[in-house]
Amino acid sequence: MDFQDYVVMITGAASGMGAATAREFAAAGAAVVIVDRNQELAEKVAAGIGAPSPLVGDVSDSAFCDRVVEQTIERHGRLDVLVNCAGIIVQADALGTSDQDWRRIMGANVDGVFFMSRAAVPHMQKQGKGAIINFGSIWGSVGAAGVLAYCATKGAVHQITRAMALDHVKDGIRINAVCPGEVNTPMLASERPEPPTPKDLKKLAEETIPMARLAEPEEVAQVVVFLASDAASYMTGSLVTVDAGYTAR
Ligand SMILES: NC(=O)c1ccc[n+]([C@@H]2O[C@H](COP(=O)([O-])OP(=O)(O)OC[C@H]3O[C@@H](n4cnc5c(N)ncnc54)[C@H](O)[C@@H]3O)[C@@H](O)[C@H]2O)c1
Repeated sequence: MDFQDYVVMITGAASGMGAATAREFAAAGAAVVIVDRNQELAEKVAAGIGAPSPLVGDVSDSAFCDRVVEQTIERHGRLDVLVNCAGIIVQADALGTSDQDWRRIMGANVDGVFFMSRAAVPHMQKQGKGAIINFGSIWGSVGAAGVLAYCATKGAVHQITRAMALDHVKDGIRINAVCPGEVNTPMLASERPEPPTPKDLKKLAEETIPMARLAEPEEVAQVVVFLASDAASYMTGSLVTVDAGYTAR
């Protein structure tokens, strides 16, 4: 796919699927703007694809989100695609989720998607065209034990996607979500007392995933690129599941 002359902003682009998405768009010719709170990793990804210095900060801060969109318009004159990929997980049921954990995950996963999208839409309206791709999850559509707050945030992302898609359909802005299953990224090991071993992950995949393997980040990133492209011109408000059949049962 050809993204020459496109400006693509990706949050959470320092790691996992955000980094893979940055690489896919750069390979397709886009000017990629990397946004993440992890400066060291963000700079590595930017250097790897020849992108300018990343914009470093926290997407749960609305002033930061307004600022990165303004800076992008100043630098590039436009914003064609926003990918809201930044996110965290809290590995706990309701009783194990503190007020602080709840606010932290709501901030990153829900406020971040809302603040970034609200900042981007006026510029896409002026252009008469734009695409936003949010990172939902299978856990936003079906429940999972031990990740209560995460499920709640991803359900919210799915509804932000649908409601904003309807609000902005006449502006020429398409808003969709990609909903991955289990993907081989650092998130699988994050916030656990003991990170899973490769053997644990293989067992998890064989027992729970119809294709009996985890996704690689690129397999999701390619779907994001498709959703941003004119090949997806009739798609808005869609939740696109990429889960090897997990939720087909
Ligand atoms: N890994 C999976 O199995 C899986 C499955 C479904 C959905 N997802 C979703 O996909 C997205 C990417 O996840 P990943 O697995 O690549 O994770 P990851 O941990 O590899 O990357 C997440 C990135 O987001 C950044 N980030 C987190 N909070 C931030 C904040 N408040 N402000 C700015 N940056 C922030 C991190 O620094 C990191 O670079 C997330 O939204 C996640 O919920 C992941």
